[in-house]
Amino acid sequence: MPVPTTAEMQPPLHMPRNEIETPALVIDLEVMETNIQGYVTFAEKHNVRLRSHVKTHKNAELAKRQSEYANNSGIVCQTLSEVEVMVKNGIDDIYLSYMVVGRKKLKRLVWLAQKLDRFATTVDGPGNIKPLQDVAADHGVKIDVILEIDVGLHRTGVSPGEPALTMTELIREQSNLNFRGLLSYEAHVKSEAETQTEYEAYCTEAMDQAQNTVELLEAEGIPVEEVKVGGTATSKYSGKHPVVTEINPGMYPFMDVGELEHRPFDIDKSDCAATVISTVISKPSEDRAIVDAGSKSLSMDKPQYPVPKHRDDIKYVNASEEHGWIDTTECSDPVDIGDRIEFIVPHVCTTINLHDTIVGVRDGCVEELWDVQARGKVK
Ligand SMILES: Cc1ncc(COP(=O)(O)O)c(C=O)c1O
Repeated sequence: MPVPTTAEMQPPLHMPRNEIETPALVIDLEVMETNIQGYVTFAEKHNVRLRSHVKTHKNAELAKRQSEYANNSGIVCQTLSEVEVMVKNGIDDIYLSYMVVGRKKLKRLVWLAQKLDRFATTVDGPGNIKPLQDVAADHGVKIDVILEIDVGLHRTGVSPGEPALTMTELIREQSNLNFRGLLSYEAHVKSEAETQTEYEAYCTEAMDQAQNTVELLEAEGIPVEEVKVGGTATSKYSGKHPVVTEINPGMYPFMDVGELEHRPFDIDKSDCAATVISTVISKPSEDRAIVDAGSKSLSMDKPQYPVPKHRDDIKYVNASEEHGWIDTTECSDPVDIGDRIEFIVPHVCTTINLHDTIVGVRDGCVEELWDVQARGKVK
């Protein structure tokens, strides 16, 4: 028998979920749709654009659906090669929330910008502003840019206030760049806030910094068309601030253990659409079972282990690449070889990036199959 191709390894449509070969990355479609609708409703209520970050799933079909649900709001990518995949698959409105550096990459960026109806990229200093201007000028095109300001994450971004004004003036001096607005990504709040009140206060504090910067720019006669913010955890707090025009959450359709642990007041296990189904392959002792899902099917890049979706009496306690250790000491229902255990994934973005296929399930059967098209597209 020939070795099956990746396509042949996919479970057929309508297959019962309990027959899908494991380890498998599965999405509960009903939960996913409810999660998406929740953010769409929020965006409509607070009059902000919901432009979803598709780095989470890296699939153009899902990206199109998210954009359509949100009034054709476009998408966000994190890498140029993600943009390439999305453009090839017919997406026409993309924001690249990342600084692109190096002449070869900038040429790709300019080529992609010309293919799109609407495109903007991100800058935060002369070192990424001037080379972008040079390549745009070489090709005779004008590129829309968003200036990132650092409102507390201390990753990328120029300081708000005067330094942001100076940088905006530099952008506006470049004849082939068009200043469109600000990115103020406030992900630090996720690790600092513990209660809902703290999320609200810290997000407001971060957005106030954006607001002060906007006021400073406008006082100089510089129009600020857009203020983009937000990941899954913070969008629903920051998005209420009047300065914000757009939220960019990524993980919200799926959720994961990270989101569960950071916002227990907001979400619970039933909100987690993304799981990995595993099979018990060994039961070496009373207190231990081993499943076929280790770190090559469940990313553990953050200090969190997978959490069983449907039971609380067992714990995922250790991983090697193809093995997961399950502590069965407090197990009320015996675990045997061949049993299937479903885990909420620790970090959904990096977990999806480990799989060829996302399996969408509804009413106990396979309904959708999505290739992780931009898997490994990090350049
Ligand atoms: C700039 C930017 N915006 C939005 C997001 C999406 O955030 P989340 O994955 O928490 O939804 C990310 C994620 O890393 C990001 O880097």
